[in-house]
Amino acid sequence: MGVVVVAAGSGTRLGAERPKAFVEVVGTTILERAVAGVLEAAVDELVVVVPEDLVAEATGRVDPLRPEGVDVTVVAGGAERTDSVAAGLAALSDAVSVVLVHDAARCLTPVVVFERVLAALAAGAAGAIPGVPVVDTIKVVDAGGVITATPLRDSLRAVQTPQGFDRALLTAAHASGAAATDDAALVEALGHDVIVVEGDALGLKITTVDDLARAERLLSDH
Ligand code: CTP
Ligand code: MG
Repeated sequence: MGVVVVAAGSGTRLGAERPKAFVEVVGTTILERAVAGVLEAAVDELVVVVPEDLVAEATGRVDPLRPEGVDVTVVAGGAERTDSVAAGLAALSDAVSVVLVHDAARCLTPVVVFERVLAALAAGAAGAIPGVPVVDTIKVVDAGGVITATPLRDSLRAVQTPQGFDRALLTAAHASGAAATDDAALVEALGHDVIVVEGDALGLKITTVDDLARAERLLSDH
């Protein structure tokens, strides 16, 4: 199984001095926490995607975490998340038939979430992603702010990563060149069923300063 960890974003909403993956949470970078978490799963190959000017630094940070027998490669990402995922996919060897794409910013994700995604794929799903029930009522609005729909809350899930797919299918989905905020949307657009498995509160994405503070609290609780 191959994993692509995308860590090439700039972290505009976090507003730190360094790109988000290089910001520390309780003394360890988001990048290193994410990679260490991923490596608790049954990984054969890992590709880490970072800003071009930080490939050397990221290699130095990730290399000491590499277990015997696991291939780890660090490559440069692109302007959009989709570009970074595509760069990561291209760096996987031909031996990889199942791939998980994971946001470095979700660096507290427990290994059980990786295992649930992998179990769904092993059971035959073309794609599987973690999700949690939403607590708010969600409205669909038009450009003028007028509500056009109120989806039943019980049918909604807030989705996380790792998102797992048949590697060839995800590569084909990316070949469309479409933009999307997650990989599942690209695979759904090809008409394939993607399954949502149970996510975890620790799968939160560190996006804002508040999220960073929350992640620090969660770590001190464990
Ligand atoms: N990402 C990436 N390449 C990009 C944009 C995002 O690899 N061009 C990665 C981020 O590093 C992050 C994940 O995709 O791990 C989710 O993106 P997000 O949380 O939006 O991170 P940023 O884009 O860095 O943050 P912001 O949108 O606030 O700038
Ligand atoms: Mg972003």
